Amino acid sequence: MEKLNIGIILGSTRQGRVSPQVGKWAKEIADKRGDANYEILDIADFKLPFLGEGTGNEPGLKAWSEKLTSLDGFVFIVSEYNHSISGALKNALDSARDEWNNKAAGIISYGSTGGARAAEHLRGILGELLVADVRVHPTLSLFTDFTNFSEFTPSDLHENNVNLMLEQVIAWSGALKTLRK
Ligand SMILES: Cc1cc2nc3c(=O)[nH]c(=O)nc-3n(C[C@H](O)[C@H](O)[C@H](O)COP(=O)(O)O)c2cc1C
Repeated sequence: MEKLNIGIILGSTRQGRVSPQVGKWAKEIADKRGDANYEILDIADFKLPFLGEGTGNEPGLKAWSEKLTSLDGFVFIVSEYNHSISGALKNALDSARDEWNNKAAGIISYGSTGGARAAEHLRGILGELLVADVRVHPTLSLFTDFTNFSEFTPSDLHENNVNLMLEQVIAWSGALKTLRK
């Protein structure tokens, strides 16, 4: 059977963000499994216009749509901004529609309370986009999993949780693929 394609989406774009460090760590754990093709998707690379403010012909919009279409499932790297997800991630979610449908997702979040409030907001959005979000949810603390809130130094215990989350993402991504045929 062909391997599933899973995108690890960096949910922040600001200068000085830590999401690339978290995404890289998650990808290293995922790659060790050998059960899917995992790739990092950096929203910043797509230079998505703010929804409705561009011409609609921006190359990044087309590239975003094509990239999402090629994927079977997602892992969202979610930072908490004012008790929710970042505006950049919300805009990226809004900038596609059918491309998300009938796929699965896991969430890794971080913040002062592990990014839990942002992750719960994201679950509501994913429901509307017909993305099945799995239960296991690694939560990283800005106080104990980062040094000086900027260098990612995760506790070992999170690796097991990431693997449990990926097991669920892979199972549901494979099951939902049958609906898209
Ligand atoms: C605009 C803004 C709002 C924030 N609000 C929260 C918040 O409500 N709760 C929280 O735990 N952290 C909050 N933070 C701290 C971020 O979670 C922290 O800076 C994190 O590193 C942001 O992710 P990033 O570095 O990938 O951008 C906020 C940060 C910013 C920039």
